[in-house]
Amino acid sequence: MASQSPERNEIEQLDRKYTLGTWTRQQDFDPTQIVDTDGPRLVTADGTSILDFSSQYVCTSLGYDADRVADAVAEQVRSVPYVSPGWSTEPRARLSEKLAEITPGSLQKTFYSTSGTEANEVAFKIARAYTGKHKILSRYRSYHGATAASLSASGDPRRVAQGPEIQPEVPGMIKGPDPYAYGSSLDPAESLAYIDEMLKLEGGTVAGVLVEPLVGSNGVLTPPDDYLPQLQQIAHDHGAVLICDEVMTGFGRTGEWFASTLYDAEPDIITMAKGLTGSYQPLAATTVTEEIAEYFEDTLLNQGHTFAGHPTACAAGVAAIETYEREGLIENAREIGQYLTSKLESLVERHPSVGERRGIGLHQGLELTRSEKERVPFEARADKVSSSTTVLDEVGADALANGVYFYTSVNTIVVTPPLTITEQAVDEAVDVLDEALEISDAAME
Ligand SMILES: Cc1ncc(COP(=O)(O)O)c(C=O)c1O
Repeated sequence: MASQSPERNEIEQLDRKYTLGTWTRQQDFDPTQIVDTDGPRLVTADGTSILDFSSQYVCTSLGYDADRVADAVAEQVRSVPYVSPGWSTEPRARLSEKLAEITPGSLQKTFYSTSGTEANEVAFKIARAYTGKHKILSRYRSYHGATAASLSASGDPRRVAQGPEIQPEVPGMIKGPDPYAYGSSLDPAESLAYIDEMLKLEGGTVAGVLVEPLVGSNGVLTPPDDYLPQLQQIAHDHGAVLICDEVMTGFGRTGEWFASTLYDAEPDIITMAKGLTGSYQPLAATTVTEEIAEYFEDTLLNQGHTFAGHPTACAAGVAAIETYEREGLIENAREIGQYLTSKLESLVERHPSVGERRGIGLHQGLELTRSEKERVPFEARADKVSSSTTVLDEVGADALANGVYFYTSVNTIVVTPPLTITEQAVDEAVDVLDEALEISDAAME
């Protein structure tokens, strides 16, 4: 994390003085003011234009020119800006119908909340009530949210950093290995067998197996093609439901509406947020199968939020889905994703410090290494929660100084542009990254 910049304008200084920054020591909180946006670009107060190849937190999937969404929000604010969830509104009904249509398998009914974190918390409650069991099995390289249960379910370094004096971990959250051939001593098939063994030994006490189909902020990990359906079978064999956390991968990022579809899996529960509205409004959803929904016909669904199914947010969701459809953005993610893959592979060829490219569509990452012979990370997992500046931070800072923003996380440069991205913009970003990677090449052993 960079130290504070010497020159900050009035807004940046006010923000710094009165706002507590997220996931950071406050001495490192030094935000740059954004005053405008343009397609995939951000404009800072001093007029600098930045091509955003992260989609912020992998969420502004529509870029910044989605007029249909902006108009839908404005119209809804003027007609019915808010009613509590016990009333019906057109945007919520239309969005729920649409989600039943685009989600895989028999997923049919949706519970709304406002963040990916809450969507997962809701999924845990539903899985527990439905199965009558209490444990949630997730994986070590994962992030599922910031609150007590969702952070306890995350394998992320942020869970490890949070000692019991701040938030004791929620009981019953157990972790298995990930299919991560490059960075783990288990091969992907062994990791599945390990989870099977865990479920056996837990003796039928696991309610849900929770995974990101393609891991996001813990390194952009791509599973083998047959991994997810096999995992689903294993979960079902032990009486657990499969919960796919598609908060990051949902809404076309991998070239399919949902990454579960990519792998021919039909999860029992899917959680989503981010791309659901292209982040024009905060909205999250937990969609369950017809069978699970039916269970709650005469069982209390003991959950609710003031802003559940907020009409303005749902209006943004309907308009966002229409935008993905009408502008062919999911096909674009697939096609430009192939172009991006070939460009990133050329960086693997050219730069000895790029150990591996992973990902599908516009959900890609480059993992760096200090050694050409084996994986020796520049960044330890604990660096995600430290104040130290790593080689990856330096690569990111260099790219930013040359006009392109990349998010870096656990030794990986995450490459996740909006779905509206063009080949020309890919060329621009990859050229800048090409130059920045000379820093990591020079830092090798
Ligand atoms: C896979 C995944 N699940 C859950 C979350 C939590 O979502 P939110 O930050 O909206 O609470 C995130 C956030 O990055 C995520 O990537």
